[in-house]
Amino acid sequence: YKRITTKTLVDMKKNGEKIAMLTAYDYTMAKIVDSAGMDVILVGDSASNVMAGHETTLPITLDQMIYHASSVVRAIERSLVVVDLPFGSYQSDPKEALRSAIRIMKESGAHAVKMEGGKEIKESIKRILNAGIPVMGHLGLTPQSIYKFGTYTVRAKEEQEAETLKEDALMLEKAGCFAIVIEKIPAKLAEEVAKSISIPVIGIGAGGGVDGQVLVTHDMIGMTHEFSPRFLRRYLDLYSDMSNAFSQYITDVKSSDFPNEEEQY
Ligand code: KIV
Ligand code: NA
Repeated sequence: YKRITTKTLVDMKKNGEKIAMLTAYDYTMAKIVDSAGMDVILVGDSASNVMAGHETTLPITLDQMIYHASSVVRAIERSLVVVDLPFGSYQSDPKEALRSAIRIMKESGAHAVKMEGGKEIKESIKRILNAGIPVMGHLGLTPQSIYKFGTYTVRAKEEQEAETLKEDALMLEKAGCFAIVIEKIPAKLAEEVAKSISIPVIGIGAGGGVDGQVLVTHDMIGMTHEFSPRFLRRYLDLYSDMSNAFSQYITDVKSSDFPNEEEQY
């Protein structure tokens, strides 16, 4: 594929090809992720934690998401760029939701938006889709509702919540969403959901029976190291590598080893 579109992703599911998705919040990282051949780049509101150091995703603003998204879009040649609508930019009413989605599309050049929730936000999703803006759903552990859950533990272990999740997934497909992220639910349930709908289900902490996987890039390359859930596979230990590089630089500067003869004019 030269350029991934929402249609490509649905075709990939049809053909049994898994979808690879990672986050990026800035130009330099997005460039590396895109050139590696990533299918989807998510400008996640996890930027609130990873970039800004907040404890939750709630504080990040629409303007800040647009800044991150426009930086990412400038780097992209292949990936589909999906942007999280941040907390407070879509929950109050469908008109506000549409205004927020339009701002993201117009001001960043991104290709789609992602929204957390099921039937509570159905009307907002429909209004955004009616405007021609592709929507990715997000069910299961939805971090914008963390104060309602009270904990980051696995969701939908009980029958009632599992049923609601299945209904919500069907609703999102019927409404016209092109894909759904499902976060931190039992693998068996996630697989069942993926098999029940024709749009791709992209999991994080949702097992291997879904249509694709997403991780937070800074976590999977080990730049962050306080956060170690079971689902996180670390491909690098950049925290140590960078920390060692910075220490070495300090040593070299203090000892006048840097710069040497070749490193000056
Ligand atoms: O904000 C984010 O990074 C996300 C992914 C973890 C799915 O929503
Ligand atoms: Na998010």
